[in-house]
Amino acid sequence: MEKITEKEQEILKTVDKFVYSKLSDDKTGHDYAHIQRVVKMAQRLAQGSAQGRLFVVLVSAELHDVIDEKIVADQTKAENEVRSFLEAHQVFQADIDAIFAIITHMSFSKNLEHHYQLTLEGQIVQDADRLDAIGAIGIGRAFYYGGAHGHIMYDPKIAPRQKMTHDEYRQNETVINHFYEKLLKLADLMNTSAAKQAAQHRTAVLEDFLQEFKAEWNQNK
Ligand code: ADP
Ligand code: NI
Repeated sequence: MEKITEKEQEILKTVDKFVYSKLSDDKTGHDYAHIQRVVKMAQRLAQGSAQGRLFVVLVSAELHDVIDEKIVADQTKAENEVRSFLEAHQVFQADIDAIFAIITHMSFSKNLEHHYQLTLEGQIVQDADRLDAIGAIGIGRAFYYGGAHGHIMYDPKIAPRQKMTHDEYRQNETVINHFYEKLLKLADLMNTSAAKQAAQHRTAVLEDFLQEFKAEWNQNK
């Protein structure tokens, strides 16, 4: 990937501060630590690729949740704020457009009803975000999210849904079903081969967890 210039490095620092100010209070699993993990993972995944702009990867990783429908009440307002922020810091218009194409189209929920083709930079950020939803951290985040939204952990009488629209996806009832409705599907949806490999291990962690969870659940029945 194209190396980061000194000026871009400065912009990245400012973007990071902006993101921290927006997400440091989040209590739904989209907190600043999630962003830091996604940025690091995206950087790692980008190393394997000759093409693309690392700056676009890293800024998109930083900003991907700042405009998310789950986090902000008014998405258009949040998008306008981010756009003005980038313009004020002299980010090239082409980069701003590339960043917005990524952060407005990369989420799992956005891709339920139709599939968006992402650029290479977008595919990397999407993989990094998805890796953080699986494995041990993914389990932690799912229960944290479920608790924050008042969902119950599990009810064997409620079957996981096979196909959902975007609105139905947001009306999920149990945390365990979220594993079947989303988390176990992510490994097959990874774009880059490095992410596919990492996803295999993290998915095995989810499967072991589910097996244990159900064994304990059924123990006293
Ligand atoms: P995206 O932002 O890609 O649409 P989500 O909002 O589904 O993805 O997921 C962001 C994080 O919140 C993930 O770690 C995910 O597992 C968790 N999460 C989202 N919805 C639920 C849910 N209904 N139950 C439990 N965890 C959830
Ligand atoms: Ni995210």
